[in-house]
Amino acid sequence: MSHTILDDSNAEGEWWKKTTAYHVYVRSFYDSNGDGIGDIQGIIEKLDYLHDLGYETIWVSPFTQSPQKDFGYDISDYLSISPEYGDMPLFEKLVEEVHRRNMKLIFDLVLNHTSSEHSWFTESASSRDNPKADWYIWKDGKGRKGLRPPNNWRAMAGNKAWTYHPQRKQFYYTAFLPFQPDLNYHNPEVKQAMFDVIRFWLNKGVDGFRLDIISAIYEDSELRSNPLSLRLTPSDKSLSIFFQHLKNNFLHEKSFEFATELRRVVDEFDNPKRVLIGESHGDESLIRRFCHNDGQRGLHAVFLFKAISTPFKAEKYREMLMTFEKHFPEPLIPTLVFSNHDRTRVISRLGGSIEKAKLLALFQFTCRGIPFTYFGDEIGIPRVRIPLKHGKDAIAIQHKWVPQFLVDRSSEILNRDECRTPMLWNERLSAGFCEDSAEPWLPVADSFREINVEKQISEPQSLLNFYRKIIRLRNRTPTLHVGSLEIVHNLCDRKILAYRRIYKGEKHMVLLNISHQQVKNPLNKPALLSTHPPSPAHRLQPFEGRIINESH
Ligand code: NOJ
Repeated sequence: MSHTILDDSNAEGEWWKKTTAYHVYVRSFYDSNGDGIGDIQGIIEKLDYLHDLGYETIWVSPFTQSPQKDFGYDISDYLSISPEYGDMPLFEKLVEEVHRRNMKLIFDLVLNHTSSEHSWFTESASSRDNPKADWYIWKDGKGRKGLRPPNNWRAMAGNKAWTYHPQRKQFYYTAFLPFQPDLNYHNPEVKQAMFDVIRFWLNKGVDGFRLDIISAIYEDSELRSNPLSLRLTPSDKSLSIFFQHLKNNFLHEKSFEFATELRRVVDEFDNPKRVLIGESHGDESLIRRFCHNDGQRGLHAVFLFKAISTPFKAEKYREMLMTFEKHFPEPLIPTLVFSNHDRTRVISRLGGSIEKAKLLALFQFTCRGIPFTYFGDEIGIPRVRIPLKHGKDAIAIQHKWVPQFLVDRSSEILNRDECRTPMLWNERLSAGFCEDSAEPWLPVADSFREINVEKQISEPQSLLNFYRKIIRLRNRTPTLHVGSLEIVHNLCDRKILAYRRIYKGEKHMVLLNISHQQVKNPLNKPALLSTHPPSPAHRLQPFEGRIINESH
């Protein structure tokens, strides 16, 4: 029987290999003190909800001191908590409460840049010869007056990558937005300062980190211009934007070495072991280098963003799985991304279809890798349209000149507020996110009376209850979390994506009918779990997914 199989990932303490992770955007999850902003106490109060669903890890978005221009991804002090979210004793309580439930806690480590309000930057900017003068990437401008940027680099957010600083009469570089100056990792002091930050949090019991834009950590030391490319807009498949290939400021050779150094630091803490997951964009053949070949020296996993933009079609998903399996064979862990705090909500990409959302969840929780889901996807919170001109998000503010009709046509969001609207807990005003008298920091989805946690808990066929079933099944079935994966090519109809998970002789077949048609079930056996209510075993309903234990 499956439950008697010894699960090696646990035996070695490599808990991340079997875990399921829930991404909490702290500002939008639950407001415990009536200021309209989610907070750490709010997370503590909702831990039982996550635990009951079966999640074993939470990833919390940044909560340390910050001017909040990029809602915490612009850090002004790495070692203290932003007062709107709580304080250090409360954070320590969160760690304790998470661990008391046998869960793990990871959070965002923003290594690449600080806020321009960080004291390191203020000092660095104050002169060319202060002790931190070389902590950021400074360079003289070109031209007679030195007012032209040092090279042609563009930032990931599409803006210019260089900002002139009048005090130093030099430019500083930013991989993201102008108020997020990049640290200079060629300087060993910067590295040591960050390693100390890491140790500080690991000593507090944090179980690991999601490494924000790790691909941008190093740049060419000679700051050479980038080669030109034909691509204008960003894509999950290439590292080109605004007609240039980001060759010299992204995925630099030294960034891969840096991953090894980071690993050494977290490996100083091995009881329990800690984990590093990189946010990295670019081709799989390159970003796998963050993990080396054995998964023992670099990062434990990197996010694979191609999953977001791959059309939800059997053929495309099959190709995607093949690519991921090719570049991330065992013991590497392909970690697929379907949603996060920067991208369009899953359900909206799937045209609002609950059926498809269940099928996608079945896929994500049964293929190899660490399933990370974004808060609210388990109930199907939709994209909430918020015009650019009302955007609080720094990207929206930067692009407020873009005509709204163009934005409306795009399936990808430009105003990230649209995927950060508050969690929908119940039918009360503000969907129970905050007290009735408080104003939530972003509007709640209009549909909150139909879509909320309380309602879905009471409906057996709800998306939420499906999440609970699939997560729990995965948790208790080693084959589904550590088994190897074999794509089944010629067993059946091409509209069915079929793969097998195999572990110690036990085999589970996963069949996903990614089509509008009923199809013949190639494996006429009862399902362990289906996305649909019971129907004849020999047919798969449109958009039905099933898991079948082949060993019995
Ligand atoms: C990626 C994060 O996901 C995003 O929210 C943030 O704005 C940028 N990195 C900059 O830190």
